[in-house]
Amino acid sequence: MAIRNIRELGDEVLRKHCKPVKEMTPRLRGIIEDMFDTMYDAYGVGLAGPQVGILKRVVVIDVDGEHPFVLINPEILETDGSQTGSEGCLSVPGKHAVVTRPNYVKVKAQDIDMNWFELEGTELLARAIQHECDHLDGILYVDKKEGPLLDNEEE
Ligand code: NI
Repeated sequence: MAIRNIRELGDEVLRKHCKPVKEMTPRLRGIIEDMFDTMYDAYGVGLAGPQVGILKRVVVIDVDGEHPFVLINPEILETDGSQTGSEGCLSVPGKHAVVTRPNYVKVKAQDIDMNWFELEGTELLARAIQHECDHLDGILYVDKKEGPLLDNEEE
């Protein structure tokens, strides 16, 4: 288990476009394990490669603490509906803002063995999938927020 340093807003690495993963390697498996460890340690529900300085198209998500997903080379296939709610990011610690996103998403991605699968989600899972996929293109939720960035204490 290894906790990696989470890059924060203002770090150029968060604005880079990530490269596709061509093959699974022992090194990348270790990075993905570290990403889960780092996400759980920070009480997050998702983490993307660039947040730990890895410019590869890989994200980890677990919105309920029971259903971990690794999405490698994710591609959003469909979205539907709309949800408006509070969103945060481990790279913007202690803050949140209102973001409107589709309420449903279907994504295809490769798993840890590089097998393609599809995942559908609504509500928080849909929000997390879209938020993490945005990270792979250098997009942060602060780019999409409505209204001010709020301190988490000021609920
Ligand atoms: Ni984030």
